[in-house]
This record gives sequence, C-alpha cells and structure tokens, in this order.
Amino acid sequence: MRKILLVLTLFFGLIARAEEGMLIPSLIEAFESDMKAMGMRLSAADIYSVNKSSIKDAIMHFGGGCTAELVSSEGLLLTNHHCGFSQVQSHSSVEKDYLKYGFWAKNHGEELPNPGLTATRIVRIEDVTAAILSGTSGLTDPAAIQQIVNANGKVLLEDAKRGTHYQADIQAFDYGNSYYLMVKEVFLDVRLVGTPPNSIGKFGGDTDNWVWPRHTGDFSVFRVYAGADNKPAAYNTSNVPYKPLHHLPIAFKSRQEGEFTMVYGFPGQTEQHLSSGNLKYLIDQQRPMEIDMRTKSLAVIDEAMKASDKTRIQYAAKQARIANAWKKNIGQIGGLRELDAVGVKEAFEAEYRSRANSKEEWKKYATIVDQMNDLVKTKSTYEYHYTLIIEYLYMGPEYLKLARGIEDLERNYSKYKEAGELESRIATLKKGAEGFFKDYDPKVDKAIFDALTPAFKNYLDPKFSIAELSNEELSKNIYSKSILVSKERYLAFLDKLTDKTLKKLSKDPGYTYFKQCWTLYQTDILPGAIAFSKDMDSLLKIYVEGKKVMFPDVKQWPDANSTLRITYGKLEGSAPTDGMAYTSHTTLKGIIAKNQTGNPDFELLPRMQELYDSKDYGDYAQDGELWVCFTGSNHTTGGNSGSPVLNADGHLMGLNFDRSWESTMSDFLFDPARCRNIVVDIRYVLWVMDKYAGAKHLVDEMTLVR
Ligand code: ARG
Ligand code: ASP
Repeated sequence: MRKILLVLTLFFGLIARAEEGMLIPSLIEAFESDMKAMGMRLSAADIYSVNKSSIKDAIMHFGGGCTAELVSSEGLLLTNHHCGFSQVQSHSSVEKDYLKYGFWAKNHGEELPNPGLTATRIVRIEDVTAAILSGTSGLTDPAAIQQIVNANGKVLLEDAKRGTHYQADIQAFDYGNSYYLMVKEVFLDVRLVGTPPNSIGKFGGDTDNWVWPRHTGDFSVFRVYAGADNKPAAYNTSNVPYKPLHHLPIAFKSRQEGEFTMVYGFPGQTEQHLSSGNLKYLIDQQRPMEIDMRTKSLAVIDEAMKASDKTRIQYAAKQARIANAWKKNIGQIGGLRELDAVGVKEAFEAEYRSRANSKEEWKKYATIVDQMNDLVKTKSTYEYHYTLIIEYLYMGPEYLKLARGIEDLERNYSKYKEAGELESRIATLKKGAEGFFKDYDPKVDKAIFDALTPAFKNYLDPKFSIAELSNEELSKNIYSKSILVSKERYLAFLDKLTDKTLKKLSKDPGYTYFKQCWTLYQTDILPGAIAFSKDMDSLLKIYVEGKKVMFPDVKQWPDANSTLRITYGKLEGSAPTDGMAYTSHTTLKGIIAKNQTGNPDFELLPRMQELYDSKDYGDYAQDGELWVCFTGSNHTTGGNSGSPVLNADGHLMGLNFDRSWESTMSDFLFDPARCRNIVVDIRYVLWVMDKYAGAKHLVDEMTLVR
C-alpha cells in the first residue's frame, strides 16, 4: 500500500507535489498560477523577462560552479563561504589569516581582486530546438545528426553574439529532446569584499555537513566591477562598481512556517530518469564501491590529520573534497533504499509499458524501459570500472595524479621538442610540483596506497587484472624509489631531462605501475564507458519523449545541467524518519550549545559568545531570537550553493547552501515529505556583517524591506 501511494505521489501528482522540479525561467509562465496558489505575489515577467529588468538580472553564475546574487546598486554580490573559499584562502597567510579571523574591506580600495574569477549574468534564454534540428528529419545515424546539429549551432551562436559583447552557448535538454540558447554577459573583475571567519562560515565543519539541524553562516561577499561603460572589463584599478539592472531587496520581515519560497540558481546535475535497473545498479554496486574506497582513504587521512598539525593543514582541502561526496552518497542510497526507489521506478515503468502498448502510435515506446535495463545488465561493467578507476587515480594515492603530467610529457616528448616547447612544459611541471609537494606527505600517501590498492584490485574484474607484484612489494618499491614521491628526485629528473634520461621512466616503479593503470583506463575501460553513456542517452531521449506524450498530466522538467533554473516550495521542516521531526529553523542559541560539546568543528572566536551574552541582536531578531538557518521544500542540488532563496515578493530571505542528509536522494527521486534545502537566513548574514564584523556600511548599501 505504501509503495502504491508513493508511486502515485511521486509520479502522478495526486497529493501536493508542487515542489519537485527545476524549471527553465523562460517557461515560468506555465507555472505562474501554481506558484500564486502557493502564495507568490510576483508575475512571471517579474521573475524572467528580456524586455525589462527582472529578478533574473540579479542572479549570477559564480565562477562556473556556484550561484551568487546582486544585492546593491553598487554591484555587491553574495555567495556561500564554501563557494568563495579558495579565493579567501588565496589571500590568506599566517600574518593575514582571513580563514581564521575573517576579512572585511573598509572601503572599495581595500577590496581584493581575484584573477580568473568570473560572474555571469544570463541575458536571455531561447528555445532553439527547431533551428538546431533543421535538416535532420528522416536521419537516423547519430553521427550524421550531430554534424548537422553542430553546423546549425555555429550559425545560431554567431547570430546571437553579433554586434554585442555577449557570449553564448547552446545546450541540449532532456537528452536532446530540446535545445536552448543561452546568451550571457561574463564579468571578469570580481573582488572580495568580506568573509566571516571559518568559525562562522564553516561552523560545524564536516560533522554538520549535509546535516540538519544546522548553524553555518555559509556566506561571503564580493563586488562585481565593470568598465566606465558598465560593461565587463578585465581587472583594472580604473574599473567601477557594476550597476546592475536589478538587485534583490532584503526580506527583513518575520518569517512564517509554510510561506512561499523560491530558489533561483544554477543546479549542476540530476538524474531523475534513470531506469529501475540503472538505479538498482547504482544503489547496490556503484555507490557502495565508491563509499568503501573513500571510507578506506578517509580512515588513513583522518588519523594522520589528528596526529599532526602540519598534516591537518596539508590535507584539509583534500579531506573535505573526499568526505563531501562520501557523506552525500551514504545519505543518498540510504534514502533510496528506505523509500524503495527501485520498486517505485518499477511500478512506474509497468504503467509506462502498459500505456505504450495501448495505442498504435505509442508502440515505439513499449520496449524502451527494457532496453535501458538490458543495457545496464550487459554494459554497466564499463561504467562501474570507470567509476572505480577514477576513484583510484583521481581520489586515491596522490602520486598517481602527479604521474599524469609526466605521462603527457613522455608521450609527446618529440612533439614538444620539435615545437620548441620542451622547456616551457618542464617549467610548468616544476611549478606544479611546488604546489603538489607543499601539501604532500609520502608516508600518508603510502598508507593510502596500502589501504586502497588491495580494494581496487579486488573490485577489478579478473579480465582487467594488472601488476604481477604483490601489493607489499609494489608499495615498498614505489615509496622507496620512485621519482614521483620525492620532490628532490622529481625536480632532479626534470632538471636533467634528456632523450636518454627520459628512458629511465620505464624503470621507475611508480611510473610503470601508473602506466599499467592508465593504459587499462584509456584502452580497456574508457571507450566502453563512453559507449555505455552514449547508448543510454539515446534511449533516455526516447524514454523522456514518451513520458511527455503519454503522461501529459505529470509535471515535466528537464534534468539539471548547470543552466539557470527556478524551483519553488515552502519554508517548512520535515519528519524524515520514524520518531524524528525536524523544526524548520535554528537560532543562535544552538550555536552556543554546539560549541559546548567541545568538538573542534564547533569552535568559536570569543566575540560570538560576547554578542550572545549581551543579546545584541539589533533588529535582526524575530520574537527575541536570532534565526541562523532554515529549511525549505525546494528541489535543489550541487551548484545551487549560494542561490538566493526568495519570498513571495521576490525579496531575499537567505542563501541556499546544502541539503539535509535524508534528502540527498533528490538527485534521483524527489520526495516532498523529506527533501529539504538548507538556507542561511539573510538576517543572520546581515547581523554578522553589522554586529560581529563592524561592517554596517555594507548593510547600508542594501535595500531592506521591513
Ligand atoms: N555539502 C555542501 C555542498 O555539497 C558543501 C558544504 C561545504 N562544507 C563542508 N564542510 N565541506 O556542496
Ligand atoms: N552544497 C551543495 C553546493 O555546493 C548544494 C547541495 O548539494 O545541496 O552546491
């Protein structure tokens, strides 16, 4: 019964499920009445318009991976602390420890430039499906179709950019069922204005990552600069703050449980259409293997980080990278299992099949699900090994990463030499080595190698077997002799590189082992993995088309693909597991309580306790409490970090930065009962700026709506 109910809920919308979906802004009109029924007071044109300024103009893609939003007429830009983290880190040193103490520019002159960082505004989004596919009807050969699509795309892009300073690209949606043109304005001068200390911006660390209740002040502040003509310009001291078409007013009003919320941003990737067999493979095989590999390396790294301060700093970023997806994946398969997601999919597939068989013109969809499930049975082994070897080569023993640069040099040695590029290539490798070895400890790496190599080989299908040596011998040889685990040996090798010494590589135990893995990856695994995903995408294209045709009553939305989207829901808590209910917001009290646990992830600087003791909340509090974070039933994913969470009037309530553990399954299946996004309340953000950091001038720049 529960399963039937779930199928109905998740696929037929019989029970309120307005929250699922990441919608294309230019098509938002179709959802306007639904959004209004949930309390929204905006029109579709307020949200997205090409003829007048709209909320869209305040949303920016931050550095390609996160979202940010403009909050003043002077180009002030907010994003997450974890999104601006590498910029903050790059400006930090032992003398100027912005990570530990925060940083606040007192005036424009103190704002710090960030070479390479961009902020992108979407000028317009256009459905170009017909134009892209023109001339392809009747063709069946995917390569021939692709050729025409590429040629059409080139013309469209040229037309879109002509006579402007804009950039443009075209992206396939729904596996090629539609294509959209995105015209963009890319700003090149984005300066750091301020950041709270880690003890606020990363409060809770990995303990609280993907967890509710949450108390992280996950924000940082930037400013977009432009040329005198208000157009993008490369960094220059003569640049001036960008004057946006729209900036978000700040929702200062009291919040209410159940009020309308909307998230506007750039979600990265979802896979809602995976077939039951594919999802089962993921839950039972792929994810557990990935989790196991990471559990093993994290055990080594965590131990080493605890034992030495030096290692703790060296491995902080790597540890966080490995742990973030590790923790997410555990939550994900937990949720998918609990809700019997595979059963839910199977039930839907049965309905899909039976509808397909009910009409002559739908017959072409009748076997598509079975074809997808069969493909998983016959070919997912390549995908599996691809995931495995990527885990090993890119997240495992780090010397293997260094080896990739040498592999490139060895393979192209003559070519680089002839082109006179050899010296610059070597210089680049040497420069890379400085950064690499700064954060590298061969003892830790050996321990990672020893933990992961047996697991890696166990997971390998015998037909892919490598290395005759025992793992112990291998490890001993590599870590005592290889040039790739010692900065001195590595630099000496590069310094003295000649045609002759290059040959030494074939005797280096580290390099020869890497080469075996690399060859396995490139020749035996990668082509099969690419073919698997191409074949699956072709099937998915037909499957999605069938879903649209045969289930017109179901809310349809294209999987996330790092393009601008809108998702809406409510400010609400959840009851994700039996016997447990989450309230919908947290307060400063909780920060102090977590601090008292003694866990270093909850360490504070003294100022926070002082402000708490004096209850100096200004007018940032609600009913005497300072809200820190809240949750909403908005469908978000990676890339939505930094996204504005807007109220019914389009005013900024807070910054999206995470999801609760139980909701991470939403990349595959959105369950409105448990899936919640986590938001840092803008009133807490402003309180930190004003009361904690003494940067009230930034608050004064904004438009507060009381
Ligand atoms: N879970 C957040 C999202 O995937 C990242 C939060 C960063 N914080 C951390 N402690 N690693 O990206
Ligand atoms: N923390 C994620 C991000 O950085 C957001 C999420 O996965 O919910 O985009």
